Amino acid sequence: MDLLSVQGLTKKYSGVTALSDVSFTLSEGEILGLIGPNGAGKSTLFGLLSGMILRTSGQILYRGVDLSRWPPHRRCHEGLVQTFQLARGFPDLTVEQNVLVGRTFGVRRLHRHSEPLSVDEILEITDLSDRRSQRGNELTLAGRKRLEVARALATAPRLLLLDEVMAGLNPTELEGVVAMIQRIHARGISLLVTEHVVESLFRLVHRVLVLHHGQLLFSGNIQDAGRDPAVLEAYLGRVEPAAPSVA
Ligand SMILES: Nc1ncnc2c1ncn2[C@@H]1O[C@H](COP(=O)(O)OP(=O)(O)O)[C@@H](O)[C@H]1O
Ligand SMILES: [Mg+2]
Repeated sequence: MDLLSVQGLTKKYSGVTALSDVSFTLSEGEILGLIGPNGAGKSTLFGLLSGMILRTSGQILYRGVDLSRWPPHRRCHEGLVQTFQLARGFPDLTVEQNVLVGRTFGVRRLHRHSEPLSVDEILEITDLSDRRSQRGNELTLAGRKRLEVARALATAPRLLLLDEVMAGLNPTELEGVVAMIQRIHARGISLLVTEHVVESLFRLVHRVLVLHHGQLLFSGNIQDAGRDPAVLEAYLGRVEPAAPSVA
């Protein structure tokens, strides 16, 4: 059984179709990439999956159950959790307290599918161990992005949705995020990851979804994506035999 199976997912705002009839699957243990130019519908898709945005039509089957009408906290308790493009978190709480908030409200004993990671483990995975007593607002952008991931990890996710955790980071920080995602994956957590930094993303995934104007243009392995005329046109505005680079 697929961990996630999305069928005909559509989101319309008055006048704007942000996502149109999108279908795809994600297997347990997979890291699936999601790319597309600005405004393609990536964050909308994430919001629909986590429940922050309600769908107009379509189905979201998670472990075989349609949860497209469930509120976000219930999806979170089942292990379906997202991070946000604009890192939120509690700026006046320490790093450790931020993680503890996620632990307190994000995990329900009855629903638990595996032993949650300890706070120490979470801080280690997100490379925040030596920042644990700092307040959220004392962190750099890269630190705040990692804290966003730490808060999500505290809820014991089975499928983690990462929305642009690499945006705005320098090459060294990017390396750190790639390694962090690999550590998360090594703990048995599946991921859907969207990034503008395609080169870094392609080091993590075998398979990618490409969104453009709310439509799923392509789904398949990354080598084929780089050769797909529709994908190239969406990224470059013309057809040329080159891999899509930074959007
Ligand atoms: N709350 C909203 N109301 C109206 N239109 C929206 C809203 N949120 C997003 N959109 C529109 O939906 C489209 C997809 O946006 P988004 O999902 O944020 O794209 P991406 O994350 O790929 O950049 C854009 O055209 C955007 O303007
Ligand atoms: Mg976005």
